[in-house]
Amino acid sequence: MNIDTIPSPCFVCDLKLLRRNAELFQYVQEQSGAEIICALKGYSLWSTFPLLGKYMAGTTASSLWEAQLGHEEMGKQVHVYAPAYRDDEIDDILDIVDHISFNSFSQWQRFREKVLKHPRKPSPGIRINPEYSEVEVDLYNPCAPRSRLGVIRSQFDADQLEGIEGLHFHTMCEQGSDVLERTLEAVVRNFGDLIPQMKWINFGGGHHITREGYDVERLIRVIRNFQDTYNTRVILEPGEAVGWQTGVLVAQVLDIIHNEMDLAILDISVSAHMPDCLEMPYRPEIRGAGEANEKAHTYRLGGTTCLAGDVVGDYSFDRPLQIGDRLVFEDMIHYTMVKTTMFNGVKHPAIGLWTEDNQFQLVREFSYPDFKSRLS
Ligand SMILES: Cc1ncc(COP(=O)(O)O)c(C=O)c1O
Repeated sequence: MNIDTIPSPCFVCDLKLLRRNAELFQYVQEQSGAEIICALKGYSLWSTFPLLGKYMAGTTASSLWEAQLGHEEMGKQVHVYAPAYRDDEIDDILDIVDHISFNSFSQWQRFREKVLKHPRKPSPGIRINPEYSEVEVDLYNPCAPRSRLGVIRSQFDADQLEGIEGLHFHTMCEQGSDVLERTLEAVVRNFGDLIPQMKWINFGGGHHITREGYDVERLIRVIRNFQDTYNTRVILEPGEAVGWQTGVLVAQVLDIIHNEMDLAILDISVSAHMPDCLEMPYRPEIRGAGEANEKAHTYRLGGTTCLAGDVVGDYSFDRPLQIGDRLVFEDMIHYTMVKTTMFNGVKHPAIGLWTEDNQFQLVREFSYPDFKSRLS
């Protein structure tokens, strides 16, 4: 990727890397028999959906709008799960989805008639909470105490299952197939008696399939064993793993100042363009940069909003930064892109693709009308 040909700021997805991830999903599907769909909450770069659609079985949405996006831009299967559906959206959702998972029996009863009578026959499921998860941060732990996500076994009313065709669980975050294996033990322990009557089980997301070192063969083995035991369809819906390590956020130095240390102000905002860095929190990697004081020149890097905490952190460089220098934030395609805002009216990064014949293709720029039209 030739960074100098890219405008700043800009998210750039490298299509070769995206295809590599998608090929791995295809391999897992072929070897295991599972279907892998793309969770739009983690990856919604829809200009790449034609490519992904060649490998993935479809998309999964958390809302009507995401479902519409998956339906329009990838086609194939459209699944949806939301903690609760709105009365004024359910008809539009049912018109386009193939699977719909409910978070509670109360939601299922509320919309049951509509689902069962719908001519497209969407396949209804119920989300279970197996009360087992190895996620340590509560913000990302769907099985944390008093979680609202999914039905726990003590609240599960098997008498209300008539019409339900599938079970859905989502309990993982950036984890390996060993965690999935242990999670399935809990699912079977708590809900095993119900599985034989289901047409499908959705293993949710959080499978870090495309991360280096992920044990893909174990995943295939675990899925096959499950399918052999229960003779049921298995669905996986990763989001992060789709866009994992497929691209960057290119930024530029706008100013350099001094207050006890050197500070550089960039043309991006951590708060508006990389909110996960503040939420998780985590320190993004910058190409060629080191930890503070590891290299000769250390700077505190901050964004261009007036939020005091709009700071990425302290990074060091081999040579002094200059106004106009480009900085490349690694791995900024999953989640980061879907979570951006127009806070402070700062210029939203453009969106580009690095094509497989090594060309930069600009697919979207943002301008004042985009900012204005979000409010009125
Ligand atoms: C229900 C559900 N499915 C799938 C995903 C995608 O998870 P990930 O991006 O970690 O693979 C999430 C993420 O929160 C989710 O809530």
